[in-house]
Amino acid sequence: MDDTDTYLLNFKGYNFERSLVNVDLLENLDDFEIRDDDVFIITYPKSGTIWTQQILSLIYFEGHRNRTENVETIDRAPFLEYNIRNMNFIDRPSPRLFTSHIPYYLAPKGLKNKRAKIVYVYRNPKDVLISYFHFSKLVVTLEDTDTIEHFMKKFLDGKVVGSLWFDHIRGWYEHKHDFNILFMMYEDMKKNLRSSVLKISGFLEKELSEEDVDAIVRQATFQSMKYDPQANYNLILQKEVGTRNNEGCFLRKGTIGDWKHHLTVEQNERFDRIFQRKMKDFPLKFIWDINEE
Ligand code: PPS
Repeated sequence: MDDTDTYLLNFKGYNFERSLVNVDLLENLDDFEIRDDDVFIITYPKSGTIWTQQILSLIYFEGHRNRTENVETIDRAPFLEYNIRNMNFIDRPSPRLFTSHIPYYLAPKGLKNKRAKIVYVYRNPKDVLISYFHFSKLVVTLEDTDTIEHFMKKFLDGKVVGSLWFDHIRGWYEHKHDFNILFMMYEDMKKNLRSSVLKISGFLEKELSEEDVDAIVRQATFQSMKYDPQANYNLILQKEVGTRNNEGCFLRKGTIGDWKHHLTVEQNERFDRIFQRKMKDFPLKFIWDINEE
């Protein structure tokens, strides 16, 4: 049976997570009031969202860096469309960090005055696919698929939250001149976290001391986040979203190239053919293997 519609809510051609999305907000998204110092983290699901939330929160909040304030990362950079804690966005003090998976064409029009900033993080889509397959098995709000083959079909048909990966990245990239946007690659962040933190903080015009950068890098590694309850969302998944089992966690592997352990040769070749067709002439580079430069 195909349960896709039970899990997905299609709004203006884009699939949202039905049970968590705030439809009122979607209907008024165009006019959502944007402040000049707002910052948006935008991603396709499973591309490094939580990681970037952690990095931006550490950049912006001294109390996070030196651990004097006990605020969960999700409250520092809440999801715009999945406001599961019903935060009053208007009452939030500036600067506000937001997180979202929206496509470029649903972005609030206030983002187009190019004062508020966007950090767009992308990841090679084979690792996105594998990460997404495991995550969908874990959380009750996503459709569980039995095999990678089955999930891959849905992913390549855009019948998942976030719709088609190709459209998401192409859309944001091809409209980048309409926004004040920085593109970051998950794999670059993985290979050189420190220089990625400096690149992001430079874009955000945030001056950081050497010690600040050290503290950010230390607390944004996979190992550190995995064991940090404020950063890893394990409790949020269990208590607020709902999990199907106790076997998985949000921070699963955090590596480059895990797809090699999951895709068959045939699946990989099929993926490559579609990727080449859809991403022809697309200028951003992708890294598929940990040893790739
Ligand atoms: S979501 O549900 O869209 O918000 O998921 P998202 O946060 O975008 O993606 C989850 C994947 O990111 C990995 N991750 C990290 N990798 C490296 N370093 C750090 N610090 C880090 N934090 C999160 C996480 O492990 C998921 O990838 P997989 O491949 O499943 O491990």
